[in-house]
Amino acid sequence: MGRKDGGSWGQRGGGVFSSRITIAVVIGITLGSLLAYVSPHGFLQSNPADTTTKPFESSGGNTDLPASSFSRVALTADDFKYSKIQEELIVLKKENERLLKKHIDMKKQIRELSNERNAARQQVLTLVPPVKAGAVGTVKSLRTHPTVEPDEEVNPDLAKLLKGVAINRELIVGVSNKNVLQMLKVWFDSIKRSGVTNFLVIALDDATAEFCKENGVPVYRRDATISSAQAGTGDNHAVSGLKFHLLREFLVLGYSVLLSDVDIVYLQDPFKHLYRDCDVESMSDGFDNITAYGYDDVSDDKSMGWARYAHTMRIWVFNSGLFFIRPTVASIELLDRVTYRLSKEKAWDQAVFNEELFYPSHPGYEGLHASRRVMDYYQFLNSKVLFKTIRKDPQNFADHKPVTIHVNYHPDKYERMLAIVDYYVMGNTKALDKFPDGSQW
Ligand SMILES: *[C@@H]1O[C@H](CO)[C@@H](O)[C@H](O)[C@H]1NC(C)=O
Repeated sequence: MGRKDGGSWGQRGGGVFSSRITIAVVIGITLGSLLAYVSPHGFLQSNPADTTTKPFESSGGNTDLPASSFSRVALTADDFKYSKIQEELIVLKKENERLLKKHIDMKKQIRELSNERNAARQQVLTLVPPVKAGAVGTVKSLRTHPTVEPDEEVNPDLAKLLKGVAINRELIVGVSNKNVLQMLKVWFDSIKRSGVTNFLVIALDDATAEFCKENGVPVYRRDATISSAQAGTGDNHAVSGLKFHLLREFLVLGYSVLLSDVDIVYLQDPFKHLYRDCDVESMSDGFDNITAYGYDDVSDDKSMGWARYAHTMRIWVFNSGLFFIRPTVASIELLDRVTYRLSKEKAWDQAVFNEELFYPSHPGYEGLHASRRVMDYYQFLNSKVLFKTIRKDPQNFADHKPVTIHVNYHPDKYERMLAIVDYYVMGNTKALDKFPDGSQW
């Protein structure tokens, strides 16, 4: 109505215009009252259950008492009060339990979010241009190297497959052949059970590929070409060596991989427990704080008198059966170095993996200097921690649920994997009892 110039209404002349407004207002009011009569509670409370209530039924009075209260006519007033309080108590107890659970859930969420935030901050740091060193306590060097530019040319088929499987360019990858299908099944069933969908099996033969397809498991078929140097090292180690070579394409395509042996049981989503701040984040063969995270091992040479003690750096090896590797140049160089050495030497892949990760540059050798993180050995368990510590201390570990358990310290892998599922998933507290701490040989 504000348009005074030009508009079609302006040309109609004042008289007709204002009388039309009056008519419109009258119609509006009439319509309004009519609707108010038909539907006194308004349109927004369109509860279909209301259709049976009469339009002018009184809504006054106390409606807080549930209908069931009135049916207990036989109770005395005190009985009534007492049962009422008891009912309230039960409700409050339930509410209390619910809040407690919520509290625990929220604490978990906060921890996950702060992990994510730290990872994001690390990513940003790597993009910052050179700066002058800051004041004492403010300087922090890089450990999160920038990811490579993905190169799909290297393997378009795999690129397509990974697009469908990975989440946030991350996935679990297991390598398997037909000799370990029983374990493989326990492995992928446990992954599925923990709610993880971004995982893939590299099948080294047709039988394995077929087995995965039957079980709805994403599979990538590759032939095993074991180098002649590795040919005599036994099937297990040969496959292990191969995985470093197979992984390369995943990284070049820009994916982070949680590489996983198949003798591992998953109990939680591992992606919620990663830091993502290093090139390699690995589970440990260590079983307490010092062996897993490093310590000063003092060696003693009495003949040196005053200087008899020499200090050495010790750490239990990274377990190459479960490590998260980010797609960085350092990570890819690590894979290449391990692959190259395994093609020349009759060496154990895990030993080579650790040497390349830890040895510094020295005469005749240039160190890799990839950044690395040890996973929490109570979250990403090896089977020594489970069988020598956790199962013997049910009080301290009553509410403890590991993320993964790797049956690496024991040869009866399949039986122990089944027992682990029985213990943690089925809740059979006796399931682990029948096994000795170590293996008896
Ligand atoms: C082991 O390390 C963790 C994490 O650094 C720490 O919280 C814990 O107190 C340490 N335990 C012992 C026995 O030193």
